[in-house]
Amino acid sequence: MSSRSSLSDLSSFRLKEGIRLGVASAATQIEGGDRNNSWYDWYTKGHIRDGSDPSRACDHYARFREDADLMADMGIHDYRMGLEWSRIEPEEGVFSEEALAHYREEIVLLKSRGIRVLLTIQHFTVPMWFEKTGGFLSERAPELFLRFTAKVINTLGDLVNEYITINEPNVYAVNSYFYGIWPPGIKSFRAVIMFYRSMTICHTKAYRLIHKIRRHMGFSDTKVGVANHIRIFEPACRFTLWHLICAGLMDLLFQKSITRSMSLGRRTFPIGRCKGVRPGKYYDFIGINYYTRSTVSGFSDGVKKGAPVNDLGWEIYPEGIVRAGHMLFDKYHAPIYITENGTCDNTDSFRAQYIHDHLKALCESKLPVAAYYHWCFTDNFEWLEGESARFGLVHVDYETQERTVKESGKYYSRLIKEAAGDEA
Ligand code: BGC
Repeated sequence: MSSRSSLSDLSSFRLKEGIRLGVASAATQIEGGDRNNSWYDWYTKGHIRDGSDPSRACDHYARFREDADLMADMGIHDYRMGLEWSRIEPEEGVFSEEALAHYREEIVLLKSRGIRVLLTIQHFTVPMWFEKTGGFLSERAPELFLRFTAKVINTLGDLVNEYITINEPNVYAVNSYFYGIWPPGIKSFRAVIMFYRSMTICHTKAYRLIHKIRRHMGFSDTKVGVANHIRIFEPACRFTLWHLICAGLMDLLFQKSITRSMSLGRRTFPIGRCKGVRPGKYYDFIGINYYTRSTVSGFSDGVKKGAPVNDLGWEIYPEGIVRAGHMLFDKYHAPIYITENGTCDNTDSFRAQYIHDHLKALCESKLPVAAYYHWCFTDNFEWLEGESARFGLVHVDYETQERTVKESGKYYSRLIKEAAGDEA
């Protein structure tokens, strides 16, 4: 994005009535201190582009109190956070009461600050013992994932009513099992299909399990969904058959088939039958992570010529968030939670504008958007890119761990406070 508007220019729309404006994060990307997960292992094998170590990250595991205070100061009342499975179950079948007590303390603290939690159970990382069993490709994966989920809900279920079972199954599948650039580094289309089946089984069963456990606890307000990564696949030329075919196939294979399989538990091409899954409705909200559009002229990502891009070269395309919303809402009809939306802007020169443009597009649409979680609260460990790709509303100096609210963070904070009728 070329020009930077002043913060006072950035309020040219009305927020949707009742929309919850929050922030998102994921355990491995912020916590630091854990060396028992698949991404730490991947780092030791030299795969992180800038060499940064995920066991440093934002040291949030030790600094969660400071981070909760900062969130509260910014007026944030909604927070999507994740759990580190390898901390909670460091060895197969052995649960750490200490880790569970830690997460309990964190959630209780957030609630005492008026911050409601949307809890993600699985966000790209797994414990090394699980990875060694074959990870989500193993026949045992659903049983192991469900045992972990049951432990989490039995321990934290009284504190949280909204859950994301799995984050972006398609991004995980493609990077880890097709391109082989994420752990465990497998390159096989067959593995992607097996992974999709496993995700469907794990999610649909976890959906039922979470509802069941919380029902037994006496709660009737449980909401469970998936954070679906949705992008817009646009043919580079609408009159070129090859571009149209590639865009259609990528749309189907990357997102439409897995979303249908996990939402409805129905046999879906090319995923096929998923053992033990019965057709049903396996979502209470439509979770969407939206970042960009791909301009397609073959089987790879492309960017529209001359389009504005972020610091990772991803097109900035605000209308896409509405198109992504309709793609799922028109089929699944449930309240929409934008579970992630954000951008890599290392100098914070266009993030406020990005937020404004995406929220404006959403709020001027007819979509029933109940919540919007900006990715991310603080800068964090951005997987392969390490610490050098900054997505945060809050700047983190990784050496000193000092947090500084960015201009975009101030803008977002003002929006939230205005929407809540708090003093900005
Ligand atoms: C993921 C996040 C990631 C973000 C930015 C999403 O795909 O869920 O973990 O940091 O995009 O790349």
